[in-house]
Amino acid sequence: MRRKIVAGNWKMNGSRSLVKQLVSTMNSDLTGLDNGVEVVIIPPALYVSDVIETAERSIQVGVQNVACWESGAYTGEISAAMAGDLGCSYTLIGHSERRQLFGETDEQVAAKIDQAFSAGLTAILCVGETLEQRESGAAEAVVAEQIRAGLAGVADEQWQRIVVAYEPVWAIGTGKTATAEDAQAMHASIRKELAALGAPANDVSLLYGGSVKADNAAALFSQPDIDGGLIGGASLKADEFLSICRAVPREY
Ligand code: 13P
Repeated sequence: MRRKIVAGNWKMNGSRSLVKQLVSTMNSDLTGLDNGVEVVIIPPALYVSDVIETAERSIQVGVQNVACWESGAYTGEISAAMAGDLGCSYTLIGHSERRQLFGETDEQVAAKIDQAFSAGLTAILCVGETLEQRESGAAEAVVAEQIRAGLAGVADEQWQRIVVAYEPVWAIGTGKTATAEDAQAMHASIRKELAALGAPANDVSLLYGGSVKADNAAALFSQPDIDGGLIGGASLKADEFLSICRAVPREY
């Protein structure tokens, strides 16, 4: 059974006071939520402990990135095991900002997924095409290649620890969202690609990300292959993020 998930990626934003204010509001308002959504907060790594200490049990916590290595002389890096040690259950892997700004390669993405598995974390693999790739008609092929490169080594019960987030690069932080129909079409294509890799494709949660807001979330989340969202800017405002969590329909 695939899970419905709304995850908030704070990117390099926030402070201890935001953690207190936002997570406390979430704690009290999430109690009435009955749509079965799993809510995940993914703050900068330095604030993971603060979020975990403030969050009540219904909120899961993740990191935005992990190292490709287990441990050792890698100054500035944070391992998947450390994230697990703090109590994280998720890590983003291969976010487009990591790929574009930090030159993260498909090989590194695959190595990070291995590290996430070793640490018992669920990996949220981020994939998505650029505007040029979409306009040239290559979007599905680009995303399929990212899926294959990241997930070719995944086997058997490891699939339970994989979530895929489709985030078209042109929709991130731009206010432009894929239409619900275009997003659905890409999610269906991702599910096909997962099946071709041997995944139990109907059990893998697929999230949409890219300018998701309270007013467009319901249309996206009602699509049959969209199981929730990966939210950037709107996850920094408690009320907006809660409205997005509420937009997940109770039944598929
Ligand atoms: P925005 O919601 O700010 O467009 O960011 C999406 C994103 O990159 C989440 O990982």
